[in-house]
Amino acid sequence: MTYRALVVDNANDSYSVVLRDVDESELPPGDVTIRVQWSTVNYKDGLALTPGNRAVRRYPMVPGVDLAGAVVGSEDPRFKPGDLVTVTGFDLGVAHPGGFAELARVPGDWVAPLPAGLTAREAMALGTAGITSALSIEILERYGLRPENGPVIVTGATGGVGSTAVSMLAGLGYTVAASTGKASEAAFLRELGATEILSREDVSAESSRSLDPERWAGAIDPVGGATTAYLLRTMKYGASIAISGLTGGSTLNTTVFPFILRGVNLLGVEAVWIPMETRLRVWSRLATDLKPKGLTDSIAVETDLHGVQAVCAEIVAGRVRGRTLVRVAGD
Ligand SMILES: NC(=O)c1ccc[n+]([C@@H]2O[C@H](COP(=O)([O-])OP(=O)(O)OC[C@H]3O[C@@H](n4cnc5c(N)ncnc54)[C@H](OP(=O)(O)O)[C@@H]3O)[C@@H](O)[C@H]2O)c1
Repeated sequence: MTYRALVVDNANDSYSVVLRDVDESELPPGDVTIRVQWSTVNYKDGLALTPGNRAVRRYPMVPGVDLAGAVVGSEDPRFKPGDLVTVTGFDLGVAHPGGFAELARVPGDWVAPLPAGLTAREAMALGTAGITSALSIEILERYGLRPENGPVIVTGATGGVGSTAVSMLAGLGYTVAASTGKASEAAFLRELGATEILSREDVSAESSRSLDPERWAGAIDPVGGATTAYLLRTMKYGASIAISGLTGGSTLNTTVFPFILRGVNLLGVEAVWIPMETRLRVWSRLATDLKPKGLTDSIAVETDLHGVQAVCAEIVAGRVRGRTLVRVAGD
């Protein structure tokens, strides 16, 4: 028996991406075999399809860091055929064949049951980006963020992490400012709940000052680089930034003054290796109070395995809006 899979290879220093039939005997080791219904394109998947990337650690590889589907076989007593499940992060799609294939086999410890309140399609409209937004909100709230503290800024706001974060924060009653490089998407961001739109230039300009006037009660920052430096200069006293990404750069030029004069917190967010207990809590919130309004009719668009390569090129170029679902065998 064979299944369709998108396979990247780097044999003889020649990078290839091919949608082909793979024999079931080539499925990797694992306890749970899943018929993939939906996957999604994250920034990391874009990198995985880029020659010379450092995201993929083993070739040939089936990318796709997120998947949702139905169990078809399990040696793990926690799962049985027919169970609807998600797998996100761990080594999926970078060192262990991932979601851009009709079949996946993974260790049982990676598998989370699909939470009540989310379809497999909705779960993948959220995916790792949605988990990252939820973790960002959780950590900001743990550090004291409340709607009455003032406006919260989301950077890279039209992206996967950004758009889900804008919608979740607005749903929780926060006043949301959104920064974007896509001026044409202001209406989209307002529809998600942003009440102020800043340009990417506004939030990434270099400055010789260590501090600027205090503006933000919180920040969700998947962009990094000069944008994080701007945020540090403009956070309110005692406020926190949840930083998760680097689309704007991995180098941070700042001073100690925001930390020692305003007590600003720069909080790291990591969504790939979170323990199962955290994962289950976050999925349950994503299915309830954090479920973004407009998730599948506004934030997410759809493609199939044939369309993945083009979306990956667009996401690395910073041109994708929201989330892109990948229909693998979904209904
Ligand atoms: N820490 C973790 O566990 C974790 C989890 C998920 C994602 N991430 C990281 O978070 C980032 C976002 O992921 P994603 O899947 O949401 O990606 P995405 O959908 O591509 O969103 C990224 C957004 O960043 C902005 N951007 C792109 N190029 C930029 C540039 N040169 N300068 C400034 N802004 C730029 C764009 O938004 P605008 O056009 O609106 O400005 C873009 O839509 C990535 O770096 C990803 O690796 C980390």
